[in-house]
Amino acid sequence: ATGTTGPAGNTGTNAPGRAHIPARHLRTDRWWLSPATTVTILSAFIVYSTWRAFANDDYFAEPYVSPFYSPCLASKCDSMPMSANAPLFGDWWGLSPALLILIFPLGFRLTCYYYRKAYYRGFWASPSACAVPEPRGSYSGETRFPLILQNIHRYFFWFAAVVAVILTWDVLIAFRDEHGAWGHMGLGTLVLLANVLLIWAYTLSCHSCRHIVGGKLKHFSKHPVRYRLWGFVSRLNGRHMELAWASLFGVALADLYVYLVASGAFDDPRFF
Ligand code: FES
Repeated sequence: ATGTTGPAGNTGTNAPGRAHIPARHLRTDRWWLSPATTVTILSAFIVYSTWRAFANDDYFAEPYVSPFYSPCLASKCDSMPMSANAPLFGDWWGLSPALLILIFPLGFRLTCYYYRKAYYRGFWASPSACAVPEPRGSYSGETRFPLILQNIHRYFFWFAAVVAVILTWDVLIAFRDEHGAWGHMGLGTLVLLANVLLIWAYTLSCHSCRHIVGGKLKHFSKHPVRYRLWGFVSRLNGRHMELAWASLFGVALADLYVYLVASGAFDDPRFF
């Protein structure tokens, strides 16, 4: 059988024994809305984050540092009080420090089980939606290079956890004023706090995290602490998709906020 608009060859919906249905699919709902939304939002994020990563400026407004640039590896971050953001790489790194940092959170998101589903559907139509055949004649899933590399997600989880700890430290710093005294709170403090809470929620809701916490056990009854932690992570895990999007918006908005303050476009309102 040969479908008129389905995949080529004798595979997929054209495989021998399948009913010959000329229509590419039989869905009548707006199945394209979800992949189209994914493409729009992820494309906007890629454009924004690329611009910011190469900008190499306006990422630090005492006491706030942009999450795109943390840990801050440039010498101009020297002045940050008690900062984990020391210039670790010295002066030889002439490019934007964000280019070193973003590899880890981007790698974590790129290999995330949820984002994989979203961008396979959105960018590769592989497939675009349930019961909508993909346009290719063959399908190898994630069994070959380069997609087999998606398996490194479990390692990216640990890097992402370290980044989350560093961003938490940045929030603590944001409770100090420019002289290093505790007790400062501005709108930027709350923005960074909201961002780090979303980052932690997304990171802990990771499927790899759930396996690390509750996997490889024969009896939960003998591991009550891990059982409780697994229950907590599982509840977050059920919201992984929402947390993936919320934290993506959160980190972009936190960076935008620091950019606006650092560039002088906006004065950070201080509560005390
Ligand atoms: Fe999405 Fe791990 S599965 S972050």
